Amino acid sequence: MNLPHARDLGSDDIARTRLHVQPPTGWLNDPNGACRIDGVYHVFYQHNPAGPDHSNIHWGHASSPDLIHWTEEPIALTPTPGSIDEQGCWSGCIVDDGGVPTAVYTAVHDGPHNAVVGLARSDRTLRRWLQDPVGKIGNPDDPSIAEVRDPFLFTHGGKRYAVQGAGHPYGSPQLLLYSCDDLESWTYLGPLLTIDDPIAASVAPANIWECPNIFQLGDSWVIILSLWRQIDAYHQLFGVRYLVGDLVGSDGDELGFVARAGGTVDDGDTFYAPQALVEPDRVLLWGWAWEGPHRSAAQIQEAGWAGVLTFPRELMLDGDVLVSRPATELSGLRTELLEPDEDGTISAHTFEIVASGPVELVLADPTTGFRDQVVRTNGPGRILVDGSIIEAFGDGASTTTRHYPTATSRWQITSSADYQVWTLN
Ligand code: FRU
Repeated sequence: MNLPHARDLGSDDIARTRLHVQPPTGWLNDPNGACRIDGVYHVFYQHNPAGPDHSNIHWGHASSPDLIHWTEEPIALTPTPGSIDEQGCWSGCIVDDGGVPTAVYTAVHDGPHNAVVGLARSDRTLRRWLQDPVGKIGNPDDPSIAEVRDPFLFTHGGKRYAVQGAGHPYGSPQLLLYSCDDLESWTYLGPLLTIDDPIAASVAPANIWECPNIFQLGDSWVIILSLWRQIDAYHQLFGVRYLVGDLVGSDGDELGFVARAGGTVDDGDTFYAPQALVEPDRVLLWGWAWEGPHRSAAQIQEAGWAGVLTFPRELMLDGDVLVSRPATELSGLRTELLEPDEDGTISAHTFEIVASGPVELVLADPTTGFRDQVVRTNGPGRILVDGSIIEAFGDGASTTTRHYPTATSRWQITSSADYQVWTLN
């Protein structure tokens, strides 16, 4: 099979990325199923191949031997007419279940209020998937829980558990806990976290918690939650928060999470629904960077695509603060040093600024006078730009944003500190 390399897809549209995971066309939202099987990294994503809108959601797929060279793979999961996922294969994760890569996902058959946990199994190439037509568990019998989705699996005390995000458009969010040692047989154990936790209430107010992640960093447990809120007739995505704390209780339904601290995972305006890959020596994280406030619905339709995955980041705890930096491997993309003009302008599509102090990036068009402040780091910073995605890291904080270069625009860098600009390839 001759699969295209990510950087060969759609390269004539300068707003598209060259080094990020992005499907050839259509819609992308959440990263799913991040895993490393037989040494190969795989990341999947919510995908509508037919157009730049959120409908008929499949799982797209990309793979990489090294986190920097990505190959676009065939679509993995497709909604099956008449089956549990006929209205969409929504978010989930992948586990290596006794040697069988198994996707544990949200199978939607009658709108988001009617989702069940679905399973799909593949051989170890992750290219040949068989979707199981039998749902494993549905909503708990509790009228305060209207929507449940996004299974994320973890082990604790040698046993396998899952969490799912849940809540009610006009009620409170919950994080539901399940035991699922045998993926065929799920037991609901009750909520692991509710908004009664005072730290969750102040850090992560929402109506539904989506795309939960739970993993250990050092001696602490970290929970990541994406905040879905109903505002009048619409829902809005309110960013991504973390809680740091302890898993308490020995086992099963005695298990609970006690938060000690919390904060924002990324303070940009276009970052949502990230997924962690827990490796033996580090935790990686990909997020969904949507088109955001600088692109209209008409521009999205005209472009024919929407959504890109962020670069993978490594997560660390600094005390009780969750910090991130670009995955170590990404420094391997640095190719040539660029010399900015005297006023700090450069024209490059894919580049990284490495500064020893605060640095600011502006997008300017001398032909129209357009000038837009893109991002500023606090302290020594790195800013990675690839087409229209900008990811800035400084002082432990990350900021993901989207701004759209044109044929006549230039990037302009301002910093009183020393900095270098590298092309990335
Ligand atoms: C988050 C989300 C998930 C859901 C998926 C559907 O962006 O709403 O909760 O599974 O997207 O595409």
